[in-house]
Amino acid sequence: MSLLPLREKVAAQQLRRRTFVASTLALAACAPRASSQPPASLPPLRAAAPFPVGTCIQAAQLDDPAYAAFVAAQVSQLTPEWELKMEYVLQADGGYRFDAPDRIAAFAQDHGQRFFGHTLVWYAQKPDAFERLAGEAYRGAFRDAFAAYIAAVVGRYKGRAVAWDVVNEAVAEDGDGWRDSLWSQQLGPLDHMTFAYQLAHAADPAAELFLNDYNLESNPRKRATFLALAESLLKAGAPLTGLGTQTHVAADLAPGAITTALQDLASLGLKVRISEMDVSLARAAGFAALRSDLERSQARLYAEAAQAYDALPRRQQFDFTFWGLEDGKSWLRRENEADAPLLFDDAGRPKPAAAAWERALMER
Ligand code: XIL
Repeated sequence: MSLLPLREKVAAQQLRRRTFVASTLALAACAPRASSQPPASLPPLRAAAPFPVGTCIQAAQLDDPAYAAFVAAQVSQLTPEWELKMEYVLQADGGYRFDAPDRIAAFAQDHGQRFFGHTLVWYAQKPDAFERLAGEAYRGAFRDAFAAYIAAVVGRYKGRAVAWDVVNEAVAEDGDGWRDSLWSQQLGPLDHMTFAYQLAHAADPAAELFLNDYNLESNPRKRATFLALAESLLKAGAPLTGLGTQTHVAADLAPGAITTALQDLASLGLKVRISEMDVSLARAAGFAALRSDLERSQARLYAEAAQAYDALPRRQQFDFTFWGLEDGKSWLRRENEADAPLLFDDAGRPKPAAAAWERALMER
């Protein structure tokens, strides 16, 4: 939550606007451009927004000094892209490894950035160390290992991680109920989640604890189930404090869908975050024929997300995180090599989407 008095907030916003206009004008003066093209450089994302702005990152990406400097300049929060998931942390023999997330946490600390923990409980992860304990005979041991894992991971970053995605993607794909998982089978469909929030809270009482999911913009039924789950968790005593919408959307998403989803999520009064935003061109209908139209829609969707998030009550805003900065490093690029879902191109140049995102925040 921003504690700045209103006058300082307004002054900060004016400064952001002036920086944006000045840099855009300076560039326009040197090299006039078509209006659909972004300036060759823009103010950093973090300077354009009144809320924290984040990206996911992999420890190995910090080996490139130029990229590390870019990340330090652009964003004020880092989330390990996969190195805080069980698939990395938990080894076959049950031991833990933290070298990669430790590196990211240290980098964040050195550069005045917040560190966000992703993720503790995810249906998609079925580590051997837990599968071995599945079944009636091991019920107590499974529960103890689950508790020990969350205590160890959250405890290690106590005072360093500002928040955690405690439960990730718990709602069924079609929005009809909750997903079945190793965790739900062994510890109960709602109980394993409630327990996870309680464990995380015990390990770091100051950390914000989120529930995170995707397709909440495109599937209203899934969004309703997600909100009902959050209410059930609160009723069951889970110290849940925030809701994250991943916002992995395709460029043909209907205008207004992001705004509606954010407003719905905010209706519970908890913190709200855009947790993994990217706008896929390749997942949109007609990708091959309509690429330039889709690029324009992409910029519009990023602008809509910025505007709709900015319009939420300040006390509910936590951060706006992109699932990567440069197209070439996106997980979606691994799915389709022609995709270009992020704000910066492969060479780190801002795309029209980046300018549109910043402009939406300046025009308020
Ligand atoms: C993805 C990562 O980007 C990939 O590197 C990894 O191989 C698979 O997971 N929802 C989530 C993220 O919550 O953890 C996923 O990240 C993207 C979808």
